[in-house]
Amino acid sequence: MTPRSALGSALLAAALIPSGAARGASDVQDITPLARQGARWAADPAVGDCGICHHLPGHDPRDQGTVGPSLAGVGLRLNEDALRALLTDARALRPGTVMPTYGRPATGPRVPPTLQGKPLLPAYVREAIVAWLSTLRHG
Ligand code: HEC
Repeated sequence: MTPRSALGSALLAAALIPSGAARGASDVQDITPLARQGARWAADPAVGDCGICHHLPGHDPRDQGTVGPSLAGVGLRLNEDALRALLTDARALRPGTVMPTYGRPATGPRVPPTLQGKPLLPAYVREAIVAWLSTLRHG
């Protein structure tokens, strides 16, 4: 997945879903465009796919993972710096967690050759997701 195709699929998804596009943001009315984009990327199976392990507010919990905690209210529990650090390297902060390391160069036998040395999510995607997570202030 190149950043270009990730962006392309996010924009395509936004174009195809006419209303309630940023469902992950539905608990906040005046959300910034960056946070709105972050909500889409977090939910998009081709980008963040965070719903595989977490409940993402605004989505049906029955369609979502329970491996990690619900992200409802996470903007109250963690400030922006803590969220950014977690999205960069969850394993450094929570040793033994199954949450992937999104912001460090990926290496090793399970990483496809085209992705070797690149983070799973580029910085601009992580920043948008952090902006969205910060808006999640309802438990
Ligand atoms: C493979 C499962 C998995 C995936 C995928 C995953 N996480 Fe997590 N996440 C976890 C687990 C498990 C925890 C709990 C941390 C621990 O293990 O102590 C967690 C914790 C968190 C927390 C802290 C929650 C709190 O209340 O302390 C945030 C925020 C978070 N994840 C965001 C994300 C985002 C955003 C994505 C997608 C880009 C994501 N996670 C993808 C498993 C996952």
